[in-house]
Amino acid sequence: MIPESGCTFVLSLMIALSGVGALEYDKRLNVAVFIVDDLRPEITTRYGQKQVITPNIDKLISESMVFERAYCQQATCSPSRNSFLSGRRPHKTKTWNFINHFREVGPDWVSFSQYFKEHNYTTLGVGKTYHGQKPPNEDQPLSWSEDREYFDKGGKTKKCYMDFPGKDTSIVCPDKAKHLSHFTDYANLEVMLENLRYANARDSPFFLVYGIHKPHLPFHMPKEFWDEYPPTEEIDLPEHGHSPRDAPWLAHTYAMDGQREIDVFGQTYKVPHPHSWNKPFPDNITRTLRKGYYASVSFVDFLVGEVLGELDTLGRTNDTLVVLFGDHGWQLGEHGEWAKQTNFELATRVPLVFKVPGRAAGSTDALVELVDVYPTVAALAGLDAPVDLDGEDLSPHWNESASPRRKEAAFSEFPRCPANLTRPIQGNVPCSFTNREEFKAIGYSVRTEDWRYTVWLPWNATTLRGNFDSEPLGLELYSHIGDDGVDFNLFENVNKANDSDYSDLLDTMHELAKNHWDSDGIIPSELPSPQPVKIVDSPNL
Ligand SMILES: *[C@@H]1O[C@H](CO)[C@@H](O)[C@H](O)[C@H]1NC(C)=O
Ligand SMILES: *[C@@H]1O[C@H](CO)[C@@H](O)[C@H](O)[C@H]1NC(C)=O
Ligand SMILES: *[C@@H]1O[C@H](CO)[C@@H](O)[C@H](O)[C@H]1NC(C)=O
Ligand SMILES: *[C@@H]1O[C@H](CO)[C@@H](O)[C@H](O)[C@H]1NC(C)=O
Ligand SMILES: *[C@@H]1O[C@H](CO)[C@@H](O)[C@H](O)[C@H]1NC(C)=O
Ligand SMILES: *[C@@H]1O[C@H](CO)[C@@H](O)[C@H](O)[C@H]1NC(C)=O
Ligand SMILES: *[C@@H]1O[C@H](CO)[C@@H](O)[C@H](O)[C@H]1NC(C)=O
Repeated sequence: MIPESGCTFVLSLMIALSGVGALEYDKRLNVAVFIVDDLRPEITTRYGQKQVITPNIDKLISESMVFERAYCQQATCSPSRNSFLSGRRPHKTKTWNFINHFREVGPDWVSFSQYFKEHNYTTLGVGKTYHGQKPPNEDQPLSWSEDREYFDKGGKTKKCYMDFPGKDTSIVCPDKAKHLSHFTDYANLEVMLENLRYANARDSPFFLVYGIHKPHLPFHMPKEFWDEYPPTEEIDLPEHGHSPRDAPWLAHTYAMDGQREIDVFGQTYKVPHPHSWNKPFPDNITRTLRKGYYASVSFVDFLVGEVLGELDTLGRTNDTLVVLFGDHGWQLGEHGEWAKQTNFELATRVPLVFKVPGRAAGSTDALVELVDVYPTVAALAGLDAPVDLDGEDLSPHWNESASPRRKEAAFSEFPRCPANLTRPIQGNVPCSFTNREEFKAIGYSVRTEDWRYTVWLPWNATTLRGNFDSEPLGLELYSHIGDDGVDFNLFENVNKANDSDYSDLLDTMHELAKNHWDSDGIIPSELPSPQPVKIVDSPNL
């Protein structure tokens, strides 16, 4: 974040591209996409952060357009990925958890990578792009070129070699393994580099996706990245480790990626419930977890650097567009929350940067959404505008004289499935493996320039949406006045929904939500019946 940027964007370098519209085939840019699991914008000095060490992403960002206020459409992996990879919002994909996927409702939709494939790009993927099997088989063959198979070594490195007790069950693991290929993200990197060399040798342009599993739990990284950080006692604590004042209990989740107990270096701790039961983690555990996350981000930074280095070696830096983003945010103890699966700012806000050869580097605080990534990359690469997508082409943001439109709001949603809606209850609150016809409630969240409003509504199983005709189950209104995105502690600490001074604002925000979710003919009609689901203990959500 450049402090002076205020409400305008800063263009530090401007090289006009000649002509408008679709480019000639040989002028189309290659595309390298980094999708980083669980990456919140607590990276790099550009986002105003000092604690996390990310030299490669810092350098990338110094050459990129930085979207300082970008939001996911649902703060959990599969629904978010189904959304931005299909270019449709969750209420269109009808995918809010780990049961459904967008192909059930959009068998003919053209996905993000498929769009490039259909424009004769060599389109290859590795790691976690789609959430495993959603859609099935990584959406092969539709989404990927058939000459090289999609590859993913998986999310969890099996063994942990560390000095601490706990071993393989510890959720934090600075690993002394001798070979980097021990780490699944590194094994995926090796295939990513092969894909890059393969695609580089072909005549067609390429579109390569590298989905990086870390910093997703467990915080398992090569020990050298852990060792870059100060002693654990010096890691900052969140300043408000409890629920925002007057927040409804539906706002919260009570598990850390499906786990209600975690092992940290051989000792077990119950995941805290921000509203009532289970004590917060002891400070040393909070610090250890935060350091584990940061060190995992530094490992991710190393992996990104390896790919960018290979692009350079191959001489493709100047004709390759690079885009990097997180699939959703993460809470590191702020508001007593751990992980994602809420509608809070920290769960929904993501880093989003585009390095586009021949175009400006800079930053903007315009509100944008992950659903915008697909049409934006298509436009920047020089392809015709894709049709029927929910997102917007953000490419006018590179051109000051184009007066890019600023969205009025960014929208996120999250269902809730407590056994009893009238009182807090531990259980499958985020609906991860509950059929969508059996949801209990949904939170619709609207982020405007200065406010976040969330309304929790009873679920209508017929229309598969929140019932705007019923009394809301909970309301939240948080001020973001003066929020430049840098301070992760200052905002959303007091719910103002019940403050009569804000009743007009509340009505306005409610209208925005209602117009967005209740008005555009969401008719589920003939939905396929859900497939059987295998429930696992600690799903890689
Ligand atoms: C893709 O390549 C085929 C065969 O060369 C060509 O006919 C077609 O026009 C190309 N499509 C696009 C969108 O460039
Ligand atoms: C807010 O107002 C609603 C409706 O009047 C009431 O049910 C609820 O308890 C209030 N919440 C707080 C935190 O005061
Ligand atoms: C945290 O402190 C407790 C109590 O002093 C100790 O038993 C535990 O080993 C510490 N854990 C870590 C990860 O520092
Ligand atoms: C890439 O572009 C930069 C900036 O325009 C230029 O300095 C550099 O020489 C170019 N590199 C190649 C390999 O063309
Ligand atoms: C920038 O926007 C102006 C006004 O819309 C337009 O005339 C110009 O062609 C644009 N430049 C580029 C490089 O797209
Ligand atoms: C939900 O909890 C309330 C309050 O404890 C109780 O009166 C009600 O019977 C419960 N409903 C169900 C369906 O369990
Ligand atoms: C759900 O929506 C349908 C269609 O609008 C309506 O007929 C029905 O009454 C709603 N159900 C509930 C419980 O509100």
